[in-house]
Amino acid sequence: MSQKADIALIGLAVMGQNLILNMDSKGFIVCAYNRTIEKVTQFLNNEAKGSNVIGATSLQDMVSKLRIPRKIMLLVKAGSAVDEFINNLIPLLQPGDIIIDGGNSEYQDTARRCNELEVKGLLYVGSGVSGGEEGARYGPSLMPGGHHEAWKHIQPIFQSICAKADNEPCCEWVGEGGAGHFVKMVHNGIEYGDMQLICEAYDLMRNLGLTQSEMSKQFARWNSEELDSFLIEITRDILNYKNSEGELLLRIRDTAGQKGTGKWTAIAALQYGVPVTLIGEAVFSRCLSALKNERVEASKLLKGAATKPSVANLQNFLNHIKHALYCAKIVSYAQGFMLMREAAKENGWNLNYGGIALMWRGGCIIRSAFLGNIKEAFTRNPQLSNLLLDGFFKKAIESGQESWRQVVSHAFMWGIPVPALSSALSFYDGYRSEKLPANLLQAQRDFFGAHTYELLGQEGKFVHTNWTGTGGNVSASTYDA
Ligand code: 6PG
Repeated sequence: MSQKADIALIGLAVMGQNLILNMDSKGFIVCAYNRTIEKVTQFLNNEAKGSNVIGATSLQDMVSKLRIPRKIMLLVKAGSAVDEFINNLIPLLQPGDIIIDGGNSEYQDTARRCNELEVKGLLYVGSGVSGGEEGARYGPSLMPGGHHEAWKHIQPIFQSICAKADNEPCCEWVGEGGAGHFVKMVHNGIEYGDMQLICEAYDLMRNLGLTQSEMSKQFARWNSEELDSFLIEITRDILNYKNSEGELLLRIRDTAGQKGTGKWTAIAALQYGVPVTLIGEAVFSRCLSALKNERVEASKLLKGAATKPSVANLQNFLNHIKHALYCAKIVSYAQGFMLMREAAKENGWNLNYGGIALMWRGGCIIRSAFLGNIKEAFTRNPQLSNLLLDGFFKKAIESGQESWRQVVSHAFMWGIPVPALSSALSFYDGYRSEKLPANLLQAQRDFFGAHTYELLGQEGKFVHTNWTGTGGNVSASTYDA
């Protein structure tokens, strides 16, 4: 009888295949399965040739080839396919076996599946997997959550195949239920924000007349400084990329699609009542970009700013753009961590924020030197309530904010949209305001709807005023009760 497999992986699309090869290279025996069986044979005869990977011809066959407790990882399309596989696996498994979902599943789906499998004595893990094809093959960032009991069984595999940053694995147990997929969702939201910020910097530079190669040089320089990150690095290379027809980027249509994780982050932000404004703007910017035909029509009809983009000292302004990008990025991550903190409170998760920064430090799409700084901030103060209050980031914004304000105000004067850069600045100004105009808002609500308001110094006591003398003295909360 041949050796039993350490883990099975279902779904032989690009991520699945690469994860299998990664596990194999670390000495684990992997059993590969795919709904279309021919794919298994093809994989074994090609990409996995010469490896120790074994194949399965059916789910029964796969289950019989696994060491106990069985570990089965799904890398299939998020949604109904995950439920289908789980339902087909349940009768084949025994208590203590583990199902892992490595797709971009919605975190509430993961929480539901955890509950459903718990009743059957099975263990469930929803794990974020980030890093694309390369990451999957040579070291992804992994964000597992669900039934903690499963962790000791999967930890050796997960922490061996994941990326390492400063010699530490970019994979740690995240928390109960949907915590792993929630953290991956926020990662993706932040990814949307980072990408949008870079796009806005690019838009400003091209409007100032920089060539692609000049812009690429800027990104190369930024990549050697505090903005050092995977996304800045690939932007440098994209700007330099030429084929037989010249610069490819110039011929790519300016409309962006999305699979939904950024949108979920924005929805979660609204549901938890956390002002994650930058990611929201990044999602809406993709939606606006998708209205290409409408924009083309509007561009012929709607007039913009009278001032043409130009600056007296280009090098200075490029430096301003870098600072603006950096400051807005700090706000974006601060907002992302605020969202995780609130969700953790509501869901009873005990999230380790420094650990999350470390998980994102390497392997994933948002990997950057900056995440090392965030990790250090939480090491300095594990109770840090907001990244903006950490000494390092406070100082960074203090030294960059004049540049940030210059960039946003110039962009507005030139009529160049900078929704992420500007909403981050508004958030920063709002967050540091002792007084916001919400006193007037409370008065308006009470004026037209008797919604009541609180007086300064009398917090918790809600009163109503008959503002016009013609309405009654009954407040909304009175008849609500
Ligand atoms: C990752 C990525 C990945 C995501 C793509 C596309 O961490 O490897 O986040 O999971 O699917 O980036 O996402 P959109 O199609 O939503 O842009």
